[in-house]
Amino acid sequence: MEKGLFITFEGGEGAGKSTQCRRLKSALEEAGHDVVLTREPGGTAESEKIRDLLVQRDGGNWTPMAECLLFFAARQMHVEKLIKPSLAAGKIVICDRFTDSTIAYQGYGHGFDIPTIEQIARLSLGDFQPDLTFILDLPVAEGLARSLRQKEGAAGRENTEDRFEKLHMDFHEKLRAGFLDIARKAPSRCVIVDALQPVDDVYLMITQAVRESM
Ligand SMILES: Nc1ncnc2c1ncn2[C@@H]1O[C@H](COP(=O)(O)OP(=O)(O)OP(=O)(O)O)[C@@H](O)[C@H]1O
Ligand SMILES: [Mg+2]
Repeated sequence: MEKGLFITFEGGEGAGKSTQCRRLKSALEEAGHDVVLTREPGGTAESEKIRDLLVQRDGGNWTPMAECLLFFAARQMHVEKLIKPSLAAGKIVICDRFTDSTIAYQGYGHGFDIPTIEQIARLSLGDFQPDLTFILDLPVAEGLARSLRQKEGAAGRENTEDRFEKLHMDFHEKLRAGFLDIARKAPSRCVIVDALQPVDDVYLMITQAVRESM
């Protein structure tokens, strides 16, 4: 059986992760691959319930540790029930956000101890890691402008997932620097992509890197 491939997309809001995930999925399927597109937090029925808790919480008083454990509780079930079995069946798994997002948001963004997050990751996932991670890098103002335009386009539809976007600009700057730091520390897995480019150009870079890793 051919070996599966685990690809994750990371970066701040509006960077184009979901756009590129969908596009890569279609292209790989057209090329005859079996592809699973999933997202975090979430990805399985149980983990989506934890997602609801995480994204709808309205600025409550959770401890950073409790929040972090919830992310990894969702992630552990996602990995065991969906990601690993799909990879074992030779499928390509594309995941919209993964562990790097927890390190970037909870660690670099909110200041929760990064070695502690890494310990929780090791405890819950062992040494399981993506084969390839795209870090979509974009100036903060452009990412937020894209998110805003997208929301205006969907005006009238109640958005219950606003929590992440309500955070301030300096937080988003920390996030951006955090993702770049993560990429610099794991150069064999991470590819930094200039997400300011047009969708087609971003996509071209991504497909080239995927082809090289197959
Ligand atoms: N390269 C690009 N150039 C211009 N606009 C883009 C580009 N990529 C995506 N967009 C647009 O920006 C908006 C946000 O894109 P998308 O939803 O893919 O981002 P995301 O990283 O998944 O955001 P979020 O973190 O909020 O889920 C969409 O309206 C999308 O069409
Ligand atoms: Mg998205």
